[in-house]
Amino acid sequence: MRIIRSRTELATQVAQWRTEGATIGTVPTMGALHAGHLALVNALDGVVTRRIVTIFVNPIQFNNAADFQLYPRGLEADATLLQNTGKVDVLYAPDEADMYPPGFATRIMVSGLDGVLCGADRPGHFDGVATVVTKLLLQTGASVAAFGEKDYQQLCLIHRFVRDLDLPVRIIPVPTVREADGLALSSRNRRLTPPQREQASALPTALKTCITDLQTGKPVATCLQTCRENLKNHGFDVHYLDLRMGDTLKEAQTATPGTRLFVAASLGEIRLIDNMPVT
Ligand code: PAJ
Repeated sequence: MRIIRSRTELATQVAQWRTEGATIGTVPTMGALHAGHLALVNALDGVVTRRIVTIFVNPIQFNNAADFQLYPRGLEADATLLQNTGKVDVLYAPDEADMYPPGFATRIMVSGLDGVLCGADRPGHFDGVATVVTKLLLQTGASVAAFGEKDYQQLCLIHRFVRDLDLPVRIIPVPTVREADGLALSSRNRRLTPPQREQASALPTALKTCITDLQTGKPVATCLQTCRENLKNHGFDVHYLDLRMGDTLKEAQTATPGTRLFVAASLGEIRLIDNMPVT
């Protein structure tokens, strides 16, 4: 596995692979890698001939400077993890000046999908995501890219702008990888104290209970209110808990298959998100 830190060096590598007729698959990440990220690498098995994992903590998708500073970083450990998969050809970790040179002024904005859920309380976040993902897909010459359902709204947005901008990239969605107690793996979990980590398992449990509740046919608003109370009783500050259509992210009035439950809730300073389908 090669570690490439500059855009020009990456361009040379990609050009060489192109002459060899390679199919390039990309997994964009912000590092602090865990088994969820590795599931994305594995999702490219048999689909591509070259794999690039990108690690870049993207400043323009953070609305809070402290959150950006505190985001866990550890390139060496990440490189070892990727090396040990034996599947990754290049780890691309550009620096900020290479991604956003002086004068950088462009944003990709996906209207409609960006104003709800995580977009409502994180203004500009998804413009930052769409902009950096577009750049990474172009820089890596990817014809396939894998993204996790853990960040379901992000996945919807990426599907949308890839279609809208005619980017020649196939997006592969990957189901959420969870801990044994159901908590979705996330780089942010590292910042939970041991008691908070124990409390955190109440989040997926509450979602599952709510879905069972919804499936009995009770009114959606009642089920959501019960779930909100449940999360509050477990020490969560609930930012949103919504039932929405899995494709358009519009609010759903009835819990039919294809709808999804979305939550963002904090334990202390740590904001956790999760989502589950109604089946
Ligand atoms: P990051 O949070 O590092 O996540 C990188 C990719 O891993 C995303 O596609 C995310 O959905 C996926 N992922 C994270 N946890 C997962 C889990 N438990 N199961 C399955 N997949 C999981 O998402 C980002 O970075 C950034 O916004 C990025 C797309 C890289 C743009 O900066």
